[in-house]
Amino acid sequence: MNIDLSDLAIVSSINGNQWLFKAILYGKQKSIGYALCEARKTKLRIMDIKIDNAYRNQRSFPKVLLDFLFSRSVNFRRMGIGTRLLQTIIAEAKQRMFSEIWTSVTKKNIDKNHFLIDWYKKQGFRIENPDAECPGGSVKKIRLLLQNPASKQTVGGKKKRR
Ligand SMILES: CC(C)(COP(=O)(O)OP(=O)(O)OC[C@H]1O[C@@H](n2cnc3c(N)ncnc32)[C@H](O)[C@@H]1OP(=O)(O)O)[C@@H](O)C(=O)NCCC(=O)NCCS
Repeated sequence: MNIDLSDLAIVSSINGNQWLFKAILYGKQKSIGYALCEARKTKLRIMDIKIDNAYRNQRSFPKVLLDFLFSRSVNFRRMGIGTRLLQTIIAEAKQRMFSEIWTSVTKKNIDKNHFLIDWYKKQGFRIENPDAECPGGSVKKIRLLLQNPASKQTVGGKKKRR
């Protein structure tokens, strides 16, 4: 299947403190990846980020029907779509004056995606040891500090006195 990335749109929706970014193709009809983020104070945490590497709903659709519809299995990874999602998250977080974006990875994440740490590093993220904010099982915390005025005012979660 030929995939025209000029038809790729990253759309975001906010529901309370949850931000959902979707990568949508084909005239905004097909979502082929997403990132779910959670905003807490001045920090934005990436809870999950994923690009489809096979059919969506493959459990509920018979493969033969999907083969008919799409002609063959579609892997949307390694086309720059994940990077586009991440760059959109960074741009939105900067615009909304977040002080940092962070996530954490487990050994399983890294075993499955050996390139993951380098992928975040390429976008300017720092790799650190997990701290109390990270969920159990995290082996690395991945953090991007944003140079926003809000982050300059904030020290240890409290605003600096002027
Ligand atoms: C991590 C993930 C979102 C990356 O999205 P993607 O669209 O496939 O990645 P990109 O196309 O933007 O990758 C850009 C660069 O990352 C590296 N990279 C990405 N996939 C790679 C792979 N399978 N093998 C080696 N390097 C890879 C390459 O340097 C690549 O650039 P290049 O193709 O010019 O060499 C995607 O692989 C995914 O959904 N993985 C499963 C879910 C997951 O692990 N999420 C992270 C949880 S923290």
